[in-house]
Amino acid sequence: CGIMGYIGYREAQPLLIHGLRKLEYRGYDSAGIAVCDGEKIAVSKAKGRIDVLDQHVQKASLSGTMGIGHTRWATHGRPSDENSHPHTDETGKFVLVHNGIIENYLDIKEELSNEGIVFSSETDTEVIAHLLAKHYDGDLVAAVRQVAGKIRGAYALAVMSEYEPDKLVAIRYASPLIIGVGDNEKFIGSDIPAILEHTRDVYVMEDGDLAILTPDSLLLQDIDTGQPIDRKQIRIEWDKEQAEKDGFDHYMLKEIHEQPRSLRNTMAGRIDEAKREIAMPDLGLLPEAVKEIEKIYIVACGTAYHAGMIGKHVFESLAHIPVEVDVASEFRYRNPLFSQKMLTVVVSQSGETADTLAALREAQRNGSRVLAITNVVGSSIAREADYVITTNAGPEIAVASTKAYTSQVIAFYLLGLYFAQVKQTIAANEREALLHAMTQLPDQVEKILTHADEIRAYAASIKDESQMFFIGRGLDYAVSLEGSLKLKEISYIHSEAYAAGELKHGTLALIEEGTRVVALSTQAHLHEKMVSNITEIKARGAVVLGIALEDNMELHRSVDDVCLIPATHPLLAPILSVIPLQLISYYTAVALGNDVDRPRNLAKSVTVE
Ligand code: G6P
Repeated sequence: CGIMGYIGYREAQPLLIHGLRKLEYRGYDSAGIAVCDGEKIAVSKAKGRIDVLDQHVQKASLSGTMGIGHTRWATHGRPSDENSHPHTDETGKFVLVHNGIIENYLDIKEELSNEGIVFSSETDTEVIAHLLAKHYDGDLVAAVRQVAGKIRGAYALAVMSEYEPDKLVAIRYASPLIIGVGDNEKFIGSDIPAILEHTRDVYVMEDGDLAILTPDSLLLQDIDTGQPIDRKQIRIEWDKEQAEKDGFDHYMLKEIHEQPRSLRNTMAGRIDEAKREIAMPDLGLLPEAVKEIEKIYIVACGTAYHAGMIGKHVFESLAHIPVEVDVASEFRYRNPLFSQKMLTVVVSQSGETADTLAALREAQRNGSRVLAITNVVGSSIAREADYVITTNAGPEIAVASTKAYTSQVIAFYLLGLYFAQVKQTIAANEREALLHAMTQLPDQVEKILTHADEIRAYAASIKDESQMFFIGRGLDYAVSLEGSLKLKEISYIHSEAYAAGELKHGTLALIEEGTRVVALSTQAHLHEKMVSNITEIKARGAVVLGIALEDNMELHRSVDDVCLIPATHPLLAPILSVIPLQLISYYTAVALGNDVDRPRNLAKSVTVE
């Protein structure tokens, strides 16, 4: 999750440890460094805090003026000493650190294992070290380029080799990496805070860039062609705090903007582009077992529960399996009925929420198998569940969850499609259309984010309201619940989400002149019904912001204001419609001067009942 590299005239070890400490805020579960003394490379790595690594390093006293370091946030393989970076080939002559996900690592691993190579970790990264050793022919840069041609996925890599102890090589594809330039020294960082104390002059690597660093030179090349490329050196003016947030004012905003990347990471390696189907190589839930499932419980808390509500629609419509969704604290004590043919799906960003963990245990005690959707590999929930899908959204720091939610929803699409594929409840062309639409989502989210300023203006207009309503039907209702929760959490404005058709049975009494309502209408088959509901509330004085897909040209006639989002498959609309809602809550809280990242009374992970 964090990379730091150094080549120059100073001892690398204290610089690397210090740089990694500057990345601690990002969250990690293990850390490691490798230092080259001009001949040999020594590696030290350990599960746990950087203090643990520091103790190891003090004993080993790694000496040398070139090195790489890493803090890991587990994706493939639990947190352990072996799975920590740096990784090496069998001879220990090639050493590297990696951020990102290698999608085709299982195929490569099988190929290399058949050639007799013995793996010492469960990571996707280790294949790169062995590939480097295999393809090295006296030219490290050439070997790195060859390996880049074989791996698929996202990577920021820093590599060194005992064969060429005079240089560091770095490459980037879909995972950030910067090069810092000092006097007779160069730095590599996944994030600016790692190197900010040493230099403010940096090159931001772009996808497909390769960098060759020596103390007094920096060469940037195109990975494919080997041709030199020109990138502009920029000067970072951010202070330390801004740098930790990538220049955003808050972690929440940074995480909202990270969603195109986190969504790609959740899908990475799980869609077989060639066969145009879902591949779940790491799930362990075999087709025979899927076919037996007659009912599903989805259990979670807070935002994860709202993702679960989308999950219900997904399983029912794609895989034709009936689903009940429960909040974990209710599920435990309501004596739910279990059978062998049931699957319980628990959803938890942290993997540590006490209520969700207790629900998991309750389900298992009653003979149900449990599948966990979580963001934290090695968490209690990930360890105890029978099957795990990791969302790979990266660490989420803001208390109000954003990118973890959209990744949980994507995980449900993957899972629902996988079940439908196995049970043959979906036609091939429909599955392909859905998969295609899913791969468009990251770019579409990006597009919505470019309109953030319009949403900021809307937020300014609601900041003094004492109450708000979010309404929708079907999937839009589930998203309304999440939008409403976001607003409550950080703006402290009282807000309610309502199934639009249910308003008239009571809550309509609260609508009066000027009441602000956000109405979602992304589901074509429910659109007319939504328009009737909007007319009902407008007749009572409500001021309505409509949220609709851009191919819906009618909604603007019924509402006061409209926010259009890119057109997509109706089932996938929640991923897009939630983005403006996240931004509304963020900008409202900012306008009110609230502590956005640490709202009052709330905790990121609630480990008590
Ligand atoms: C806390 C957080 C929420 C989160 C919920 C469930 O209440 O403040 O943002 O949705 O816990 O957390 P989990 O880690 O299980 O997803």
